[in-house]
Amino acid sequence: MNTTENNTSTAQVHYFLVPSTMSSPMEHQEEIISTTTVQAATNEGFDYSKLIDQFGSEPVQQDLIERFEKLTGKKAHPFLKRGIFFSHRDLHKLLDHYENGKMFYLYTGRGPSSDSMHLGHLVPFMFTKYLQDAFQVPLVIQLTDDEKHLMQELDFQQVRNMMIENVKDIIACGFDMRKTFIFSNFDYMGYLYKTVVQIEKCVTTSQVKGVFGFNDSDNIGKMSFPAIQAAPSFYTSFPHIFSVQQDAFQNLESTMKENNGKNMDSIMCLIPCAIDQDPYFRLTRDVAPKLGFPKPVLVHGKFLPSLQGAKTKMASSDKNSAIFLTDSNAVIASKVAGSFSGGGASKELHEKFGANLKVDVPFKLLEFFLEDDQQLEQVREEYSKGIMLTSQIKKLAFEVVSKLVKEHQERRARITEEELKEFMSVRKLDF
Ligand code: TYM
Repeated sequence: MNTTENNTSTAQVHYFLVPSTMSSPMEHQEEIISTTTVQAATNEGFDYSKLIDQFGSEPVQQDLIERFEKLTGKKAHPFLKRGIFFSHRDLHKLLDHYENGKMFYLYTGRGPSSDSMHLGHLVPFMFTKYLQDAFQVPLVIQLTDDEKHLMQELDFQQVRNMMIENVKDIIACGFDMRKTFIFSNFDYMGYLYKTVVQIEKCVTTSQVKGVFGFNDSDNIGKMSFPAIQAAPSFYTSFPHIFSVQQDAFQNLESTMKENNGKNMDSIMCLIPCAIDQDPYFRLTRDVAPKLGFPKPVLVHGKFLPSLQGAKTKMASSDKNSAIFLTDSNAVIASKVAGSFSGGGASKELHEKFGANLKVDVPFKLLEFFLEDDQQLEQVREEYSKGIMLTSQIKKLAFEVVSKLVKEHQERRARITEEELKEFMSVRKLDF
């Protein structure tokens, strides 16, 4: 057991969980990561190893990557090898479980707050696709239309439209339809509700206020929402997938008593997401043993930075910060050309001192999306020495990103209404 984990009961308020109402970007020199605000101290972005200490998670290390390769017989995803998925909670335990022939499923999600997803959103979904292909396991994807209605005051019809558009972006990532269930909270709540209520019963208002920074003027929907994002971490939320019996909840209560609240050795859940979602799942992990469930396992991704610099993440709330999956080639070209550069102020200075890769956004785009490891290393070497020019790296970043977006758009255009319905229908999965 990881004794250093900052759970919600022992560490309720963290400086990195400052609520948006308290965090004017101009006032803070420190790092803030909450579910509403992401801000690093400098344009170099976050000190992710410091975050691991503060969050009490564990680093993804070489031995873990080798275990992935050994167990799946597949090469590790570049996101693992390049440290983009950099932190985890209990991944070794999950791999032990898998190695012993036991069952796990994947769970991830999206809060539909814009018509189109952006490149940053793509990161956890690309990684989730790799995990599904590698382990051949079922996947559930939650669309939190309720969250966006409660938190951002978008009306029902707006969030519904955005949700459908976002589902198309998600399907275009290439998930296996036979193993994937995508659901809108508004549509699926009847099935989720029993699990949600079990969770709500275990979490106090002061815990939620401490973790998410809500105050007494916030609507009560915000207060209970964390239980709704937590629920899919437990298999009882999906009776049609995991054949949960009618009396599962009665059994849960008696199992809880028998086990004295200890983890049941049952179906485990692995959640890939960027680190901003961790507060939800720290809370979930606190609750799990009280309900007799295994704690959900987490693997955390780094943020794809804003085009204006790595001090903030690429976010749909700031249109200029992001390359959207609906952007045209011309728009992508102009966004990449205008993105924050770590190159020298003049050609002479650049050739003399090289580029600062720590702040260079085009280079970060390549770190995330250039598939060829060798080419990436060559760019790293030549650009940092000033041999490669800023215009050249921007051109390469444009080529890589525009190819990725174009292919995504082509797959998206081929999705039929029937496929969309099938992905979202309550049904058995094939695994
Ligand atoms: P949302 O819609 O804000 O983000 C969807 C997913 O994308 C990640 N993400 C990023 N990753 C890399 N770089 C970025 N710039 C970037 N911006 C966002 C998020 O961490 C997330 O993984 N409440 C959630 C929806 C949700 C969910 C989940 C997410 C429900 N259940 C389970 C992950 C796992 C939300 O609004 O995500």
